[in-house]
Parts: sequence; C-alpha cells; structure tokens
Amino acid sequence: ADSRVYRASTTAPVNIAVIKYWGKRDAKLNLPTNSSLSVTLAQSDLKAHTTASCSQAFSDDDSLILNGEPSPLTTPRSQACLARLRALRKILEDRDNSLPKLSQWPLRIVSINNFPTAAGLASSAAGFAALIRAIANLYELPQSPTELSAIARQGSGSACRSLFGGYVAWDAGTAADGNDSVAVEVAPASHWPEMRALVVVASAEKKGVPSTAGMQQTAATSTLFPLRVEKLVPARMIAMKEAIAKKDFATFADLTMQDSNSFHAVCLDTVPPIFYMNETSRAAVRLVEAINERVGRNVAAYTFDAGPNAVVYYLAENEGQVAGVFKSLLGDKDGWAGDRGTQVQEAPIEG
Ligand code: PMV
Repeated sequence: ADSRVYRASTTAPVNIAVIKYWGKRDAKLNLPTNSSLSVTLAQSDLKAHTTASCSQAFSDDDSLILNGEPSPLTTPRSQACLARLRALRKILEDRDNSLPKLSQWPLRIVSINNFPTAAGLASSAAGFAALIRAIANLYELPQSPTELSAIARQGSGSACRSLFGGYVAWDAGTAADGNDSVAVEVAPASHWPEMRALVVVASAEKKGVPSTAGMQQTAATSTLFPLRVEKLVPARMIAMKEAIAKKDFATFADLTMQDSNSFHAVCLDTVPPIFYMNETSRAAVRLVEAINERVGRNVAAYTFDAGPNAVVYYLAENEGQVAGVFKSLLGDKDGWAGDRGTQVQEAPIEG
C-alpha cells in the first residue's frame, strides 16, 4: 500500500461585485438570473488559505478544519464540488494507470479564512474558490480557471469570480446544466493599476438574512426584480465592461453605486422587506456623495453586499480625498462604531 501523503496549498482572494449577483434560476446548480461583475481585492488578510491532502493511509472520511474547528463537508454544495473534482481526477487515472488513485482516497482540508477585521465580507467566495483550487492542484487537473469556476459556483455563486484576479465577469449562461455559467477575466489588475478599495466595517455581526433565502424571497415577491434582471443589469454589464476598458472611473462609479442601490431596492421591495444596510451604511453613502460633490466629479464609489459593510472604490491619485477623509472621520467618531467599532481598511487590487 502507498502510505505517502499528497498535499497542495493555495490562497484565494475576496471579490466584491460592482454589478451584483442576486437571484437564482436554478438553486441546486447555483445558476443566476443575471450576469455579474466583480473586482478582486488583494489585501493579505482578506484571503482564504487552504491545504488539501489525501492518502491511502487515511482511514477516516473526508474532513474539513475551518479556522481550527471541525466543519461539515457533507452539505450538498460541498458534496457536489468534491464529486465533480473526483470525477475529473478519475478521468486522468483511467487514462494513465501509473497515477496514484487519489480520487479514491479520503481528503483532509485545512482552511484559514478568519478575515479578522472584515467579518461578513464574502468569506464563502474566497473559501470555496480556495477549496476548489487546492483540490484541483492536488489532483493535478488540467482544467482552466474558467472551467474550475463552474465547480466553485456550485459551492457559492460568487466564489466562481474568486478564481481570477482583477476584473471578472460571471456570465449567467443559458445552458440547463450550467456549463456556460462561468467566470471570465474582463481585464487583469495591471490594466488599471491605480484602482483601490477600502472596506468600512459597519458591523462584524453575521448577516441577518442569508443570501440564498434573500434571493428566493426577492425572486418570489419583488415587483421591481424583473426590471432589474431583464433590463437594468444587462445594460449595466455592457456599460461596465466599456468603462473598465476605457478606465473611465466616473462611469465605473456611477454604475457601481446605481447597481448597489438597485440590489438593495429589490431587497426592500420583498415581502417582508429585507434591510441589509444600516445607519452606518447610509452615513458612508452620504460621505461618498459629499466627497464627490466637493471634488466636482466621481472620485469614490460605494457598494454594499448582503450586509451593512461598505466597500469604497477610488483611484490612487484621490487617496487623500477619499481614504484620507474616511479615516479621519471614522477614526475618532463614536457614532460610527458598530459592535466591534467601525474600521477602515485599504486593499490594493489583486493581480
Ligand atoms: O455567493 P453568495 O450566494 O453568497 O451571494 C452573494 C451575493 C452578493 O454578495 C450580494 C452579490 C455578489 O455578486 O457577490
């Protein structure tokens, strides 16, 4: 018997959508009702670090240690990801008999993604992306990041976008099996190296309504949702790709803020209404508005996911006017503090 332990490690970054994914046309396969587009953040403490190992000598079942705690790998979503990765490995083993039969052996996964200062920020995206990439590396799979994104998508929709750095689109696709619902690179980070992001942690609490439940409720009850899915988002996807190609920050900012507000508007339009933003979030919106007003053009753009924390995009040349103002205002103002205090973090864009 082979007693060797095979191992591979990787990291995956957090991505924050500027055109939001909200709504599933197939809940089992995590197929979205609309395409989305994100920017990948490169901050070192906003990454998931994952090691995957397997050995014929492991006698236990597949296992996951997440931030030091045993965690279930038995959820249908995790199971779907593992089954697909094993099937791809099996193809290689069937083709080449000399390969160790890794697909048959238990997996041990160890992952650290305890984003200390930014809880509630897309942890599942980085976590599933790192899980998929670590196992793909362990299995020496030849699949491209786009092909792997279709697997990561089944773990958590937004995870498919964390397989790339820079500017990433997730094409909704039309195929029933989800084969064309994948992430593709729109532009590498080096295309627009001046882009920066800062994270305003309004609350480190876990979000109130989980994204899957929120999406279901929105699709079932929001009257505004069809307009968003059919008209607004498709037009914004085209305009956003153009703004990125031209490095047109003012348009990038307009679209980012409009789409965040549109997403939170359909959440408010559900029965019962869902509130992800809080008073601190709204203060961050007003601050960005005030900064842009003072400069006379858009130099900052806010966006909010399914929680109250803001991500503010800006260009390096406007660092002082944006990050500087946020820091000086938030640093010493008690009224801004959430349960762990409001914090501001700058994050370069991942390459
Ligand atoms: O990947 P999920 O199921 O956690 O959904 C993420 C949804 C948003 O973060 C609100 C939007 C997005 O595109 O990331």
